[in-house]
Amino acid sequence: MTFADYPATRFRRLRRTPALRDLVQENRLSAADLIWPVFIREGHNAEEPIASMPGVSRLTLDRLLVRATEAHEAGVQVICLFPYTDQSLRTEDCAEAWSPENLTNRAIRMLKKELPSLAVMTDIALDPYNANGHDGFVVDGIIVNDETVEALVKMALAQAEAGADILGPSDMMDGRIGAMRAALEENGHQDVTIMSYSAKYASCFYGPFRDAVGASGRLVGDKKTYQMNPGNSDEALRLVARDLAEGADMVMVKPGMPYLDICTRVKRELQVPTFAYQVSGEYAMLKGAAQNGWIDGEKSMLESLLCFKRAGCDGILTYFAVDVANYLKG
Ligand code: PBG
Repeated sequence: MTFADYPATRFRRLRRTPALRDLVQENRLSAADLIWPVFIREGHNAEEPIASMPGVSRLTLDRLLVRATEAHEAGVQVICLFPYTDQSLRTEDCAEAWSPENLTNRAIRMLKKELPSLAVMTDIALDPYNANGHDGFVVDGIIVNDETVEALVKMALAQAEAGADILGPSDMMDGRIGAMRAALEENGHQDVTIMSYSAKYASCFYGPFRDAVGASGRLVGDKKTYQMNPGNSDEALRLVARDLAEGADMVMVKPGMPYLDICTRVKRELQVPTFAYQVSGEYAMLKGAAQNGWIDGEKSMLESLLCFKRAGCDGILTYFAVDVANYLKG
């Protein structure tokens, strides 16, 4: 036999057994990579299912504590809060957004008191508090930038005051990171981190989320004047670089699965802590197909999340966080 008679490299050698496959696996998923987004509501002892997100419920604060404790025991280290604001508190001036006593700020204080080692992340945007469902103030049909930034800074300070570990501005206004960072420094919150939703696209995959926070019926028009065009990639790099220069510690790409190329570019070109948000519509697709028996629910969950790591992400916001942590533990 000569060399030409057999394959030069037999890649299948290293795929032969589980031990060999594990030995050469390049990327892995761990519970420490996961951020768990949770929907909260007023009331007591209730978990209210969200029809378009099977397995996800809005939790009252007492139930939040129970579920967060379980999640933390399973290995989840970061939770991200999203409020369902009472409809009566959704106004044109969005004043509830920076009330120290709003639902989110009460939840932060409770979690930091009861589970101090669980990191708490927030969302900063006006949509859960706005009469018209937009992330910014609307004046004569225009989403106004600079007035919105002033409100977002008040919101950020109230959350930092309540004890949030990570602030997540998801509004896509220009200049908000710099304004928030300056306000945090000036008010004794120099150690509060910011994970900027830097590359956030105007996506149809947020539909179930808007049901979950009760904004679906309210939204007038769309968010295309502030969220990114799905056709753009260079712009994402410029946004990330801008947010870092203004004081962001970590950046996010959102949605996740259809935007893995953006995750890879951000990590390769800027070498910064990079996160992706596997959003509500992605969760609904996987869960819906699994419930119909069309794909394997557990395998598709694990594969979809591992692929974020391969693409370059340091971590992922995912509604599957607790299921994954439990799987990895078991
Ligand atoms: C609010 C916000 C949205 C999401 C996170 N923060 C919705 C939107 O921008 O309309 C979507 C998350 C998801 O779909 O899971 N600004």
